[in-house]
Amino acid sequence: MKADQPTLPKILVLASGSGTNLQALIESSRERDFPGQIVAVGCNRPKAFALERAAQANVETFMVNHEDFSSREEFDAALMAHILRHNPDLIVLAGFMRILTTDFVRAFRGRLINIHPSLLPRHTGLNTHQRALDAGDRIHGVSVHFVTEELDGGPVIAQAEVAVVPEDTAETLAEKVQAKEHLLYPIVVRWFCEGRIQLGGEHIMFDGQALNTPMRLPDN
Ligand code: GAR
Repeated sequence: MKADQPTLPKILVLASGSGTNLQALIESSRERDFPGQIVAVGCNRPKAFALERAAQANVETFMVNHEDFSSREEFDAALMAHILRHNPDLIVLAGFMRILTTDFVRAFRGRLINIHPSLLPRHTGLNTHQRALDAGDRIHGVSVHFVTEELDGGPVIAQAEVAVVPEDTAETLAEKVQAKEHLLYPIVVRWFCEGRIQLGGEHIMFDGQALNTPMRLPDN
């Protein structure tokens, strides 16, 4: 009976762009045993394709356009008000291209995760694929981390690697990394919803043990 089923953890996704990671999460959340439910998608760009993907999947959306606000603090306060309406257990940043204020990050500490297209702590910030090439990296990849006050600096939960070959360009690397992103993010969200990962102080607890190195997605 439906009434006897416990409510699944509520996931709220924030996106700014194309939303391919959102799409991967939507598809995973449709699996019968997925331990969470996507309750809303928030966006800061009215034309973001992520909004269309959410609508297609019948997921509620909300828009907080950063251009309507004169300060980061006001924008984050408005965003926070929308988020609190949904009372999410987990907030998933999926290509959400905004630097968040300390107040926002503190309010959601331990339930705010981000995906970043590099093997953190290498290449925080933007243009990570070109920077990996310029640095001569042989291995590049993606990280999922808890968001803390330090930009792209929170404890890393899991990573997936890609090999960099001489023919690679920033575009081919982006493609390879994104393919890994779409595998990795749903896995981490699943772990979180199952209660397997928590942010304890400055480090991550995984199945009740301190996680000393990030979990790795196997190569294939
Ligand atoms: C993803 O590659 C994600 O790693 C990156 O934005 C892209 C969003 O793609 N995030 C960052 O760079 C965060 N600093 P998507 O909209 O297709 O999911």
